[in-house]
Amino acid sequence: MRTEKDSHATSSLNDCRLITLNKHHHENGNLTVVEGEKELPFDIKRIYYIYDVPGGAERGGHSHKECASFLVAVSGSFNVEITDGVNKQVFTLNRSNTGLYIAPGIWRTLNNFSSGSVALSIASHNYDAGDYIYDYDDFLELTAHKRNND
Ligand code: TYD
Repeated sequence: MRTEKDSHATSSLNDCRLITLNKHHHENGNLTVVEGEKELPFDIKRIYYIYDVPGGAERGGHSHKECASFLVAVSGSFNVEITDGVNKQVFTLNRSNTGLYIAPGIWRTLNNFSSGSVALSIASHNYDAGDYIYDYDDFLELTAHKRNND
């Protein structure tokens, strides 16, 4: 029987990757385009950005059951720590045309924001508070359950 625990995607860090986007270089400035299902492995449903982050602050701290994300430091830099419940990896995003694809079911924490940085997040789903796992112990339990039952 399918339970609530089964709705959390089973992904591993191998499903996450840096994606380098195109850069239309021009002497008057560069331009980068992102199109869903072209540059990114999902259709784009939502875009938001995080800015004016105070020094030392942390964002994220959750996983999504179904939503995939793509994060880019469109300005400045920040670190993204991701874990699938077993392995962890830290990425420093500091280029306007390189971002991190995060598969659903992966816990992410964003920190070490440089002053004035802007974190752009492109998402595969509309906002749904019910798609979030905010408790790390719950996340570990869910991912262990999935590993044992898939
Ligand atoms: P939150 O998910 O805590 O931000 P992050 O995890 O990226 O640090 O979201 C902060 C607030 O913004 C929270 O009250 C929910 C709201 N929010 C929306 O209303 N829609 C959205 O698409 C997102 C990402 C957040």
